[in-house]
Amino acid sequence: MRRLAAAAALGMVLLAGAAYAAGEEELPPFLKTNWSFGGTFAADAFGTYDRASAQRGFQVWNEVCSSCHSMKLMSYRNLAGIGLTAGQIRAIAASKTVPGDLNDQGEPTTRPGLPSDHFASPYPNEKASRAANNGAYPPDHSLIVNARVNGANYIYSLLQGYVEPPPGVKVPDGLYYNKWFVGHQIHMPAPLQDNSVTYADGTKATLAQESHDVATFLYFASNPHMDERKHLGVRIVGFFALMAGLTYAVKKHVWSDVHKATHDEER
Ligand code: HEC
Repeated sequence: MRRLAAAAALGMVLLAGAAYAAGEEELPPFLKTNWSFGGTFAADAFGTYDRASAQRGFQVWNEVCSSCHSMKLMSYRNLAGIGLTAGQIRAIAASKTVPGDLNDQGEPTTRPGLPSDHFASPYPNEKASRAANNGAYPPDHSLIVNARVNGANYIYSLLQGYVEPPPGVKVPDGLYYNKWFVGHQIHMPAPLQDNSVTYADGTKATLAQESHDVATFLYFASNPHMDERKHLGVRIVGFFALMAGLTYAVKKHVWSDVHKATHDEER
């Protein structure tokens, strides 16, 4: 009897916990967009990066997001994965300032970046970055898509989620209301508006387009080897299909004598 009561009490605690969690999580469904790299069966299995979109996304990231966020695991030469040429990569790296060796007096120096350098960070360390952002830390973007549930759709929505707070909701200074942020109060001011960048390829830079492109680039940053993985998958399936055909042909050939012999016997 006592056990039953204990079980009932535990059940109620769990139920209350679930209800509390559900009450906390009243985020609207994410905005919809079509990704070249996933979301449908065909895109999941065969889809590769829309390179034009990923390159525009890098432009957005480089011109806007990189003033607050780092991407420490990414090197400039990795940009070859979205189709940038060696010359373009050299020029992008050279336009950045990265930490150099110590000089003869033992003091730190800086130098222009090289393709082999990791992306330069906007702040020297986490404390400096918090100090510049009202105490909040703009998280590193190297793996941000994988670090959030449904990452690409989440980021796509979050960037477009800045709306007027509902009546009666007071947003303190230094915080901004966002439909898709848990708790709705985020320390990041809306980073993108229409025409935050001028696209080199002439694409119209709407807020939705910029959000789509930068999410594509962030997906690439989190999954830089996806293209190779999918190409290899297709080749392996092709190889096994070929092997199956060959094996069947060999089997037919090897057994043809036996079949003939049985037929002759039956006759
Ligand atoms: C002015 C500085 C600033 C800029 C520019 C900026 N961010 Fe942020 N970002 C922040 C801060 C600060 C946070 C932490 C917010 C918080 O925890 O409340 C953040 C958080 C985020 C998060 C994580 C949200 C979460 O779920 O925790 C994402 C994703 C993000 N930013 C994407 C971007 C993208 C993409 C861009 C460029 C289009 C960008 N940010 C530009 C300051 C910035």
